[in-house]
Amino acid sequence: MFTKRQEAELITSIQGRGEIPLKFVYLGDGAKKWQAIAQKRSGGGINSMEAQLLTKRAKDFLSVFAEAKKINIIDIGCGDGTPVLPLLAELEEQGVAFRYVPLDISQEMLDIAEKTIVGKYKDCEVKKVLLDFELGNFSDVTYDLKSDGSSNLLLFLGSTIGNFSDRNRVLTNIRDSMSSDDFLMVGVEMTNFAKVSKLLPHYTDKLIEDVLRKVPSDLGIKKPATVYDVNWNDVEGQVEAWLSFKKDQEFVVGENKMKLEANERILLMRSVKFNEWTFTKLISDVGLRTELLTTSPDRTYVLSMVQPTRYSV
Ligand SMILES: C[S@@+](CC[C@H](N)C(=O)[O-])C[C@H]1O[C@@H](n2cnc3c(N)ncnc32)[C@H](O)[C@@H]1O
Repeated sequence: MFTKRQEAELITSIQGRGEIPLKFVYLGDGAKKWQAIAQKRSGGGINSMEAQLLTKRAKDFLSVFAEAKKINIIDIGCGDGTPVLPLLAELEEQGVAFRYVPLDISQEMLDIAEKTIVGKYKDCEVKKVLLDFELGNFSDVTYDLKSDGSSNLLLFLGSTIGNFSDRNRVLTNIRDSMSSDDFLMVGVEMTNFAKVSKLLPHYTDKLIEDVLRKVPSDLGIKKPATVYDVNWNDVEGQVEAWLSFKKDQEFVVGENKMKLEANERILLMRSVKFNEWTFTKLISDVGLRTELLTTSPDRTYVLSMVQPTRYSV
């Protein structure tokens, strides 16, 4: 299931940081597991908050493309594709042509997203892009897309930015894939830091535990030999999910034998939580300028439209 490069990254991150990168969860049958979580989140979770906000403000967000004859909707970390539907509905209403460009590390996730969009818009052109956006910019993709005179709208939705150890690097890769007439929309969940204990039950949910256990289980680590645990890390401002071992575990990654010892633990997931200040700082630190920012009425979700800051010399 893993490429040679991914095998190397997995081994290095287990040995070096004691972490299984979350992105590997979405490969293979993990895509369907994620789809089940996304469907649950759309019935009252963060996907529904984001969808409501996007539906309400789609017209404002799209007004920056008043002159565009066609828009490339570049869905970075596409998941099952449903988060972009409110935007596509508004584009259809306005009679603006669009091309859907899901971009993801998981071929299975790309196929699911394509099915979602073509299910609603059967003649929609879909251009799937399989890549890992942690590894560098994808300016070749964004540049080529505009060769027919179309415009680029990049989307990074679902609070996905909170899952990365190095959020600046991920946003820098995205920024370096944008030219001055491209726009990026980022969606993040906001947290009241006084009420973080309310967040934890979400991560002990059976569906979440099951998807997070996927990579260890694919490696042959048996569930009864492990303990799944969730905590709030106050220093990093993040929810963490850990797997610890009741006895020594030996397993193979590719052709490499690995061992994790009893009482050792590995990080399965982090979800950094933002407030308006930490989010705005992250955006400006990587050289992005906020054009439009909208918050849900209860201030628990933010959608921000940003562009690269162009410094004159
Ligand atoms: C938390 S899900 C969010 C999906 C969707 N945007 C939503 O809001 O429901 C994260 C998505 O990003 C993809 N992803 C995570 N890390 C990635 C990486 N380094 N490169 C490319 N795709 C990645 C996953 O495969 C998954 O589809």
